[in-house]
Amino acid sequence: MAQSRVIGAEHIQDAYQRGRIVFEVLSGDIVTDLAVETAERLGIRLSDGPLDKPAIVKTDGAKAMVRGLYRRSSRWVSPHKAIPRQVRRFSKLALVGAGGVGGNIAHLAALQNMADEIMLIDIVPGMAAATALDLNHASGITGASARCFGSENLADLAGADVIVVTAGMARRPGMTRADLIDVNKRIIHSTAEVIRARAPEAIVIVVTNPLDEMTLEMFKMTQFPRERVLGMAGTLDSSRFRNALAGAAGVSPADVDAITLGSHGDEMTPIPSLARIKGRPLERYLTEEQIEACVKDAVTGGGQVVTLKKSGSATIAPAHGVVELLDHIRGARVGPVPVSVMMAGEYGVHDVVLGVPAHLGKTGLIEVEELRLSERELQNLHAAAEAVRKRLEH
Ligand code: NAI
Ligand code: 2OP
Repeated sequence: MAQSRVIGAEHIQDAYQRGRIVFEVLSGDIVTDLAVETAERLGIRLSDGPLDKPAIVKTDGAKAMVRGLYRRSSRWVSPHKAIPRQVRRFSKLALVGAGGVGGNIAHLAALQNMADEIMLIDIVPGMAAATALDLNHASGITGASARCFGSENLADLAGADVIVVTAGMARRPGMTRADLIDVNKRIIHSTAEVIRARAPEAIVIVVTNPLDEMTLEMFKMTQFPRERVLGMAGTLDSSRFRNALAGAAGVSPADVDAITLGSHGDEMTPIPSLARIKGRPLERYLTEEQIEACVKDAVTGGGQVVTLKKSGSATIAPAHGVVELLDHIRGARVGPVPVSVMMAGEYGVHDVVLGVPAHLGKTGLIEVEELRLSERELQNLHAAAEAVRKRLEH
């Protein structure tokens, strides 16, 4: 009798990369939840086996050689069509806070037709309605079918499948993100109360600073499972890190693969040990000093914008950071993405919100991915966890 197998997400990813659309599950196989979610996301059907296999087409050696050579030529086009991903469309995306970041998220989400309805909410009278109208006016050019609405009433987030919270104060020069704790905590608490009552099934993405602390407050106040309370910062900080590395190495940012973890503060933890430029370790392109400078550039990126702007902070890159998370939730992107989540023992960290690589799907967090970090990087991650914990205690 065949041995039973444990089918994990990696087996499904592998099948996907091989161009399969059906994955054979034999009796006795154990299929993990993550594998089921991954299969759904990638459009692979899990089918009870054994499946009938098509007979091997017999061919003579000369024909096989001609085919082989032809495939190597630039004129060869694969007969297998790419498998379309099952990208979901939200029925209602609610944005609490229609300022710089909220407005940009609405713009990007509308352009990508991410939702049937985009609801902007802001306490400043007329502000959300004005932005919504402005966005709808653009649809005659963009053809976007997402309808935007504006409101001053938090209750209008009712029925949203995803809620992005940017409501709060942004930094001014000389302020740290931690200086915003008291004022923004009150806003997060009142928003959480309404979310809990009006959208009890929603996934919440917190953007308001200080990010990790505010995500933790949202988690506590909504009493939602950790899977549905996420914080955005890692996607933004990683983008800044990749931009710095690309600039230093003189390559396109698309050639750079790098992430930052930890907190969205001074204890941010860029991960040079796992970063790659054109698939190679950083040391192939950069000196140790250059790498250190790029780490510093990522950590201070937000502050650099604040200093130049004088009132307010970055808005465009943060909005893209949120859209990256939304894309993972709706299945337009796959693989691990840095996101702040309530920790449950991963990397040896408990009961505090921290930026870690994780898989996301239609139910929010699916699984935190534990990467092999250098000792220094792991220490930095633990230091970040302690710093977040201490800031909230004080
Ligand atoms: P902004 O000042 O342009 O917009 C914030 C909006 O929130 C304002 O329009 C304000 O009227 C609204 N607001 C305040 N209290 C509200 C409430 N109770 N209900 C509804 N709306 C309310 O600020 P911006 O640039 O959009 O930044 C928003 C927040 O996001 C700030 O705390 C900022 O520090 C943070 N941020 C975080 C980033 C991250 O990576 N996590 C990146 C960029 C900004
Ligand atoms: C940023 O990193 C201010 O947290 C915001 O741009």
